[in-house]
Amino acid sequence: MGHQVTSPLPDGVLADALSALLNNGSSVYEMGPAATAMEINLVRWMGGLLGFPPTCGGALTSGGSLGNFTALLAARQARAGFDCWKLGQQAGPPLAVLCSDQTHYCVQRAVRMMGWGDDGAVSIPTDSRYKMRADLLKSALAQSRHVGRRVIGVVASASSTSTGAIDPLEEIAEFCGRHDLWFHVDGAHGASLAISEKHRCRLKGIERADSVVWDPHKLMLMPALITGIIYRDANHAYGAFAQEASYLFGGADPRDEWFNTGIRTLECTKLIMGFKLYSSLRIHGEGMFASYVEAMLERATQFAALLRQAGDFRVAVEPECNIVCFRYEPRGHQMSDAKQAEIRERVIRRGGFYLVKTRLRDGVYLRTTLLNPLVTLEDLKALLEEIRTVGATLGR
Ligand SMILES: Cc1ncc(COP(=O)(O)O)c(C=O)c1O
Repeated sequence: MGHQVTSPLPDGVLADALSALLNNGSSVYEMGPAATAMEINLVRWMGGLLGFPPTCGGALTSGGSLGNFTALLAARQARAGFDCWKLGQQAGPPLAVLCSDQTHYCVQRAVRMMGWGDDGAVSIPTDSRYKMRADLLKSALAQSRHVGRRVIGVVASASSTSTGAIDPLEEIAEFCGRHDLWFHVDGAHGASLAISEKHRCRLKGIERADSVVWDPHKLMLMPALITGIIYRDANHAYGAFAQEASYLFGGADPRDEWFNTGIRTLECTKLIMGFKLYSSLRIHGEGMFASYVEAMLERATQFAALLRQAGDFRVAVEPECNIVCFRYEPRGHQMSDAKQAEIRERVIRRGGFYLVKTRLRDGVYLRTTLLNPLVTLEDLKALLEEIRTVGATLGR
């Protein structure tokens, strides 16, 4: 119940073992025809759940970090106003994206890898629930323009890593539309909510994104790795990597080779990622995944309620997803940040539980991600007892 690493579905694990045995690459169609067909169909299926039109498309890639980097390369090619891929960054003004102060670090990293430097990711403050303050986008855009930066897009989190907060996607989509900016949603963690009819509404606005990154190895029970990069307009997928490799890919227009997914992703040798999800969906159906997502969100809500009722814990924010952050604050005592961190260390060392910590606006919080369907409310009650036991040995 610590990091966003799921307890994998056994069928997915078996499918991965079979993929390893087959050892077919899946960047080039002729090396893995079945894997390619599964990948293309899965990406379109994901796009459909997000509310994208049938003209959506993309590819699978090795993790959310690479997925976000790839989508931002495509965004750059579409919105920079010059051919940065061909001519290099010096051919145009310095570029930037707007993203919240809760954005996963891989976005900052991607921006630096593209050579935009420290100011390439403009940080937008978040509100009391750690959601991007969309009302501040306009002034951030004006300020960037004032200093000579060309903003190409906005990166929203759905959900964010620390607290599971979902940015106001509709407002951000509106803003991007008004200013002709690329709208990217980092849905590595939370895009899986789209599979649940009950919770899909939390992602309202995602259907207007230009690109979405979605990790089924987080909230869809898949063993690592499998990440979808889904573009509302499939043609944009070819913008990320534009160079020719005639020994692998032949056509002059990359779209002629739509069946070679390696044109759209970084990997050359690429693991068969689609088989585990494709086969798990065939075996269990979408309904099983939807009820899993619903159960995990329900568990998080129950856990937050439990923490509130307990009286000696403080919840950071009401969970919007399956991540719950809290502090141990026995009645009348302010436990320091160092003590919260020490509690985590000792709990882990005792061997019964694994939880993590995160720094939020007002201090260090203990953090749990509820991904394991076998974790019950009783287990969570036992975790709180464990924290009390450990906390009692720490003093003030
Ligand atoms: C919101 C978000 N984006 C991106 C990532 C990076 O994904 P990956 O670990 O698959 O590279 C994470 C990982 O925790 C995440 O929470």
